[in-house]
Amino acid sequence: IVLDLWFLVLMVSCNPMFLKGSSDTSAFPSNFLFGTASSSYQFEGAYFSHGKGLSNWDVFTHTPGTIMDGTNGDIAVDHYHRYPEDLDLMEYIGVNSYRFSISWARILPKGRFGTANRAGINHYNKFINELLRRGIQPFVTLTHFDIPQELEDRYGAWLSPEIQQVVDSLISVQSGIFPPSRCSGTFGNCSSGDSEKEPFIAAHNMILSHAAAVNVYRTKYQKKQGGSIGIVMNAIWHEPLSDSLEDKLAVERANAFYMNWFLDPIILGKYPAEMHDILGSDLPVFSKHELEKLKSGVDFIGINQYTSFYVKDCAFSTCEQGPGVSRTEGLYLRTAQKDGFFIGQPTALDWLIVYPKGMEKLVTYFKERYNNIPMYITENGYCEEENVNVTTEAVLKDVQREEYMSSYLDALETAVRKGADVRGYFAWSLLDNFEWTSGYTIRFGLYHVDFSTLKRTRKHSATWYKDYIANDKAVR
Ligand code: NOJ
Repeated sequence: IVLDLWFLVLMVSCNPMFLKGSSDTSAFPSNFLFGTASSSYQFEGAYFSHGKGLSNWDVFTHTPGTIMDGTNGDIAVDHYHRYPEDLDLMEYIGVNSYRFSISWARILPKGRFGTANRAGINHYNKFINELLRRGIQPFVTLTHFDIPQELEDRYGAWLSPEIQQVVDSLISVQSGIFPPSRCSGTFGNCSSGDSEKEPFIAAHNMILSHAAAVNVYRTKYQKKQGGSIGIVMNAIWHEPLSDSLEDKLAVERANAFYMNWFLDPIILGKYPAEMHDILGSDLPVFSKHELEKLKSGVDFIGINQYTSFYVKDCAFSTCEQGPGVSRTEGLYLRTAQKDGFFIGQPTALDWLIVYPKGMEKLVTYFKERYNNIPMYITENGYCEEENVNVTTEAVLKDVQREEYMSSYLDALETAVRKGADVRGYFAWSLLDNFEWTSGYTIRFGLYHVDFSTLKRTRKHSATWYKDYIANDKAVR
């Protein structure tokens, strides 16, 4: 899917401080995608409409004690019904792409079983046609955490090789805080874990599911309809706490277990060496046949880049529990602070530390490790906590989000100037939405959403992003 539908928008700069200087030229290629990103469960609502089946997240959020504010995504921001209005908002910003996920439970309400739900297919057809009509290129995620509950019940979802149909993320069986609420001691804070091996089995099935999806796409659709297919990683930049070899090795372990776990097999055909060393025979093995399937590879990698951490070794050196985020895991490392400080500015979410340089470093790291495969920044964004004491004016003024996006985009441009093949950037997110276990307590939107009326109100960052995109076009 490659469309290049730019409109030249005159730059009306409301906050020139964070825009590129007018004499600068853009480092981004002419068909660069600027978009916003979302996911079905966090946005759509309409949880039981038009033949949709229940997803694992529908069931999970209705289990007491799972979500911080006791809410759920039954209605979310009602994007399912209000998408025409939301597309107007995107048009205002001037994006040329939109990343969204398809709710598998809308299309196959019973997982793989039963018949496909026409109404669900029609919805996405209508939606995609409307995007195209407006010159907004669809960037579709095949699965973004929510899967039909039926698959969970029948098979244990990702724990079964039966699920080799789709792509994407794992989180669920690492720490036990997301459905299916299973917890492995290797990663989680749980003491009485489910099988230690489960995360590796689930990830193995995800990798093979990804390969299966790529093979279907390559053989049946790509030649006819064009487009490209890839995989998205939540990618954290890990910086060694000191220059010591021990801390540098700890960074390698962190990278292996948090990112390269998926990308290495898919791109390099094998699990990272650090995983072999630590897990030994607990690490699943790819058969010859599976390795063959993996060779279909990816056209690009999607990178969700928000945050960075210092990493300290706990394998070869003493590792007292330090202040701040501190997770001692089976990886013999912990994230750390230096002289009481994180690597950057903390935010309302403990995992989100503002460190723009991390964007440049991470993209450069992937460029080198994966032979400059095309990359998209599939998510990047800033959050604030729901706070009744903050005035509406301050919420809408939204200065930190602008600073955040501006500095991360600058860092991305630096990486591109140095040769990284980055082809797009998607802001998380167009609207405030359902932030998983944080419910509606955390806001990531360029537009404010009043969750009782669902009214959308533009924050200043939306105007800032509009100006940024227009200016970027103007200085090409
Ligand atoms: C990454 C996830 O893909 C998305 O669903 C989530 O809302 C953002 N991070 C912010 O936490």
